[in-house]
Amino acid sequence: MSYQLYNWIHVFGLFVIFASLGGISIYAATGGEKAAFKYRRALALAHGVMMVLVLVAGFGLMARANYKFTENPWIYLKLLIWLGVGVFPAFVWRMKNKGLMLFWALLLLGVIGSYTAIFKFSAPQFKKPASIETNIDTGFDGMKRIPSEKIA
Ligand code: HEM
Repeated sequence: MSYQLYNWIHVFGLFVIFASLGGISIYAATGGEKAAFKYRRALALAHGVMMVLVLVAGFGLMARANYKFTENPWIYLKLLIWLGVGVFPAFVWRMKNKGLMLFWALLLLGVIGSYTAIFKFSAPQFKKPASIETNIDTGFDGMKRIPSEKIA
């Protein structure tokens, strides 16, 4: 499968996930009862299937773009966000009176996830402090190297 196809599946899968979670959090925020929610099964199914598709497409994108976890720590954050949207429905039904707050939290997860995907961040590079620089180059453990031409 091409990078573009993985990306399309990844992004539309996210649309379906966020739409279904948005629906249940607003339903809960308006005091709706879980047992009385006519579309609960349909949205739970859509959420579940798309969670798998988004993950598989995410790994597909990594493979096509040759992203390694070690060089791309931003993917760990995305996996964390993915877990967050995975358990999100459980929070909505347990904290029904917080439905609206959860709705905003959901949007925040989307903002952080999409920002991370597009702007990424890399592993902090270890920059050798200048002092170590000299020592390592000289190999004389900090002693000043006498340039060979000066050694009579
Ligand atoms: C729910 C959490 C997630 C959100 C909101 C999210 C969002 C996005 C968005 C908006 C894009 C950009 C698409 C584009 O530039 O065309 C993207 C790309 C990508 N995502 Fe995700 N994603 C999520 C989860 C994941 C997971 C779990 C993985 C890894 C398994 C992943 C790996 C990737 C990769 C590798 C790319 C391509 C980045 C690039 O080549 O520039 N994402 N994601």
